[in-house]
Order: sequence, then structure tokens, then C-alpha cells
Amino acid sequence: MSGINYSEKIPNNVDLVGDRTLQRALEHWQPKFLDWWRGMGPTDFQSADVYLRTAVSVDSDGWAQYGAVKMPDYRWGIFLADPVADRRIGFGDQMGQPAWQQVPGEYRSTLRRLIVTQGDTEPASVEQQRLLGHTCPSLYDLRNLFQVNVEEGRHLWAMVYLLHAYFGRDGREEAEELLQRHSGDADKPRILTTFNEPISDWLSFYCFTYFTDRDGKYQLKSLAESAFDPLSRTCRFMLTEEAHHMFVGETGIGRVVKRTLEVMKELGTDDPAKIRAAGAVDLPLLQKYLNFWCSSSLDLFGSEQSSNSAANFANGLKGRPDEAQYEDHVLRSSSFKLSTPGGGEEIPMLNALNEVMRESYLKDCEIGLKRWNRAIERAGHAGLALRLPSTRFRRSIGAWLDQPVDPSGKLLERSSYEKKLLDWIPSESDRAFVRSLMQRVVEPGKMAGWVAPPERGINNQPVGYEYVKLH
Ligand SMILES: [Fe+2]
Ligand SMILES: [Fe+2]
Repeated sequence: MSGINYSEKIPNNVDLVGDRTLQRALEHWQPKFLDWWRGMGPTDFQSADVYLRTAVSVDSDGWAQYGAVKMPDYRWGIFLADPVADRRIGFGDQMGQPAWQQVPGEYRSTLRRLIVTQGDTEPASVEQQRLLGHTCPSLYDLRNLFQVNVEEGRHLWAMVYLLHAYFGRDGREEAEELLQRHSGDADKPRILTTFNEPISDWLSFYCFTYFTDRDGKYQLKSLAESAFDPLSRTCRFMLTEEAHHMFVGETGIGRVVKRTLEVMKELGTDDPAKIRAAGAVDLPLLQKYLNFWCSSSLDLFGSEQSSNSAANFANGLKGRPDEAQYEDHVLRSSSFKLSTPGGGEEIPMLNALNEVMRESYLKDCEIGLKRWNRAIERAGHAGLALRLPSTRFRRSIGAWLDQPVDPSGKLLERSSYEKKLLDWIPSESDRAFVRSLMQRVVEPGKMAGWVAPPERGINNQPVGYEYVKLH
């Protein structure tokens, strides 16, 4: 088991001390990261004591330690999952050959791009969420927000380590730029659109962690298959942390549903206006948020047809999530039936991998929906069940780009589509209503009126534990 050396400036299990040049380069980047954290990370809570988990090993039973930490003192470190002995390439044209411990020259710029694109999303989400602390519904939620934030910071470290260790001067320059682009910045935005959308309320935060962090899970899973072994090992450990982020989303939305059903029962109505007047989120409004964040996250998988992802797969750079579940790992002789606005089209499977990934992502998204809908049905409101929007809805990339499609996937006249769009995604007044609910609650054990308390606390602590000490 590779232990983590905490006596060093940068905790790590990659024997940084044995590579002085790399260590110095990362120690040079570290204060810039901290400057970024102070300037672009959560506002105003830097001196609070937060009950955070910190990675202390990559051991599957007991990799984290919990305790009160001031966020700027969080030990961001570099942790790779343990190597797999004699690991072989699991897919593509070089299947069966030994995995790479160094970057092959011919794939250098493509791999760098993949790592930079992944790395860019990590600090982006911290920037998107930086104001949320001011309107937290409880200390429990505030702690979860900060936990997600510090871990996204660590995921940035994970990618920056790869850039520094394997990509020389280009990699160091990319690492600098990861701190210079900012979410929503007009001149230097983050690379992917979804990561430039502001997250100004907690309903959006729950949706983001449910849908967008789950895209992260699928990207990490496909990079964990990579023939480039250090990338694979880095991503495998990141997935361990990522699971909590989606937990925050799934339980967050579940708690909103629960609270709304309670209010509906108290009032004896499903009238959205009355539910809103009582300070809760009506289910059709929640559906609009789901439509917005799901469709926006679906774009992150790219076009249905992609020669880049075909090449990435064939060359062993990026596999499918859980590659081992498939039978054919080369895909030179299979095809995929793609649906397009003009009808169906048969395309080589290799070129359809973004779509394959999007489909398995959506299946994963369904799991939470089923759970929430069970609660809705039990409360006698089966007619208000929540749904995922069709993959054709509100796409800004690929075959369905800018097509007038409703959330069920039906093509409409453009004029009626435009009239109805704000019935499907949050309108300005919907957003204003949600913002009006966002009143800060920071008394231990207290909860805002629009969301039910969680079923249990963090790490066996009670729900009412003082997860953040504000001073
Ligand atoms: Fe992440
Ligand atoms: Fe995440």
C-alpha cells in the first residue's frame, strides 16, 4: 500500500521527494493555487472550522480522515491508486500490449488536451459555487458544499501533477492557465459551456452535483481505462471522492421532493401557486431545473458522431466507462444506429462512442429519478412523477443542435417550441422565486423550509452536529 507522506509540503504517494525538479515545480505552483483559492474559492468562510474529510491513503477501507479544518489549511495532495501489476491496454488497436508509463510522442498533444479539459472543469465548479455559502439551507449542507469544493481543488491538483510530471514545459504552462481562466469570464472563460453557467441557488447546486458531477464520473471512468497508466491511476482515485458529490445531488433533490410532498399534504393541494406561497418548490418547477441541468450536462459528451473519440479509443487514450463490461474492445466491425432529425443512420461504432457514453450516463441518471418517484407515488401523486428530458432536447451540439424538440423528444414547429420553452426550463420569474427561498440558516440542526433534513449526518455524526463553526 502506498502511504502518503504528510510531512512534505505537498502530501503525496508518488515519491515526490525522489524527484527534486518536479517537487520544486509543484511547490512553485502551490502558492499560486492558494492565491486562486483565496480569490476565487468560497467567499467569506476561509476562517471557519469545517468538518472535512481529507484523503490520507488510497486504501479502500479507510482512505479518509475527518476533522475540523480551515479551508485554506486543507491538505491538497497528489494521490494515485495503487498500480496494477503488469497492467495491459484493455481496448483499441493496441489491446493486450503493456500500459504506458510515459506519454508516447505521437499522442502527446491529444493526451495533454484531454487532461487539460478534465482539469479545467475542477476549479471551474468551485468558481461557479463560490457565493452559495451565503444562502446555505443548513450547516450540514454548507459543510457538504465545502467538501465538494476542496475536493474539486484536489482534482485540479491531480491533473496538474500529470501536466508537470509528464508534459514538460507545455504542461507547466497549461497548469498556469488552469488558474487564469475563470468560470463565466468574458475574456478567458472555462473551456466547456456548462462550467460557465452560474450556480446561484441551492436547487441548481443539487442539480449540478447530480447531473454535472455525474458527467465527471463518466469522464473519469473512461479516462481510468486509459493506456496511459498514471492517468488511469489518478482517475481511479478521483472517482472515490467523486461519489460523495453525486450523493450530495441525489439526496439534495430527494430532500426537496420530500419537503414538497409534506407541504402538499399539509395544504391538501398540488396547486403550484399555493405550494410556492408556502415556501416550497413545486414539482413542475423542480422538473424545469432537471430539464435545464440534464440537457446542459448531456452536451458535455460531445457530438453523436466524433472522429476524435474514435481515434482516442482506437489509440487507447480513452475507453468506454467500465470497458470490461463489453465484449468487443476493438470495435472495428460493429455499427451503431443513430437517430437524427432526418431519420435513422447507421454509423461505425467507433464513431458513435460519445453517444454510447451518453446512453450509459442517462441510465445512471435514472437511478435517482426512480427513488424520487417512489416517494411521489407513495404520496399519491403519480401524475407528477419526474422525468429525464430526451437527449434531443435543447442540445447545443451534434445532430440535434438547435432543433425545436420538446422534452419528450418530439419535433415541433419552431414557433410553438419558442412559445413553450419557458414551460420546460426555468423562466426568470421561476429563478427569482427560487432565489427568494434561499435564506441562510446556520443554527446547528435547523433547516430551511424548502428542504427536508437529511436522513443521517456525516461520518456517523448527528444531523444537528455543528458541521461548520463560523466564529
Ligand atoms: Fe472533480
Ligand atoms: Fe465532483
